[in-house]
Amino acid sequence: MGARASFPMVTLTKNRIIVVTGANTGIGYEIAKHCAFMGATVILACRSEARARNAMERMQQEYESEVITAHGENNRLAIEFMHVDLSSFKSVVTFCDEFKKTGRQLHVLFCNAGLGMAPYSVTVDGLELILQANYLGHFLMIAKLLDVMKRSGPDCRILLTASSAHSAARRIDISTMNFTGNERDYSQIVYYGRSKAYQIMQAITMTSRLKGSNISVNSFHPGLVATEFGRYINNSCLKCCVKCICGCGCARTPIQGATCGIDLAVNPDYSGVSGHYWIDCRITEPKSCVRNEETQIAVWRESFKFLKDYLTEDEINAMEGK
Ligand SMILES: NC(=O)c1ccc[n+]([C@@H]2O[C@H](COP(=O)([O-])OP(=O)(O)OC[C@H]3O[C@@H](n4cnc5c(N)ncnc54)[C@H](OP(=O)(O)O)[C@@H]3O)[C@@H](O)[C@H]2O)c1
Repeated sequence: MGARASFPMVTLTKNRIIVVTGANTGIGYEIAKHCAFMGATVILACRSEARARNAMERMQQEYESEVITAHGENNRLAIEFMHVDLSSFKSVVTFCDEFKKTGRQLHVLFCNAGLGMAPYSVTVDGLELILQANYLGHFLMIAKLLDVMKRSGPDCRILLTASSAHSAARRIDISTMNFTGNERDYSQIVYYGRSKAYQIMQAITMTSRLKGSNISVNSFHPGLVATEFGRYINNSCLKCCVKCICGCGCARTPIQGATCGIDLAVNPDYSGVSGHYWIDCRITEPKSCVRNEETQIAVWRESFKFLKDYLTEDEINAMEGK
């Protein structure tokens, strides 16, 4: 980890509402945990209720041993579970409807859940899994919750856990955004890299659309982190490599991987800072494949096409900053 990578311990109130997707393990767990430790209400948006509830129990226990013992405080964390499966548009819509029904504000939407190195698979919506779970599911969630964030007062933040693996996207070809070719030609690395490239581009494009609003959008790379991320790898050689890297201490711990994300979520210095890609709490230039404005716009427009049955005209207009 870069020497400067750290996050400030700020005091957040329970009225600060933070949604973290994929918060039951890995990087998302640490992001949710530390935001909750600082006092915010954190919603763990996960696909497995059992895994989320286990995580919440662990979080509370860690709070009691790490914070309450040290400071003599006696609070329960404000953590809640809400179900969402990002590989299903219907599930994302239900999640957003349920969230809206609570009448709550939304200050930080942390789009962290993701999978990579997964074998080729098609979702219930007929799309390649990594494209939908990592990118389009979150895109839909953002579009549906944007009006809530617009009404939630100053300094609302959308954060996307991207990856330096966006470099694997190489040349971005809109016509193959959704993989429809022969399974033998499918590359997990390329499609994972592309999903992360789209997220970095989304932060840039949305920033230009939302200029002057109360919402900032940033993406970050957590580093190579020893999490459950490699669980879907079906190539035994690659699985062995990942195991060695994680086992030999070369990879970061989940909290080290989450540090930049936590900083982006809570650091008051970043209020209104938008459209950047961050590594180790520093703004960094992403690879050239995501910096081309024409490609950014093409990806942006194509994303709406995938979601045409799920977004209203008002939601599209809000995303376009109209
Ligand atoms: N680990 C790394 O080296 C690394 C490097 C760069 C970027 N990243 C990014 O960091 C993010 C977090 O990854 P991680 O390393 O913490 O991996 P992880 O330990 O595997 O955690 C991934 C999280 O995403 C959730 N998730 C996966 N598919 C989902 C779906 N369809 N709907 C809802 N939730 C879903 C998982 O839920 P379940 O537990 O139910 O499966 C889990 O909570 C990802 O976006 C990843 O691309 C990781």
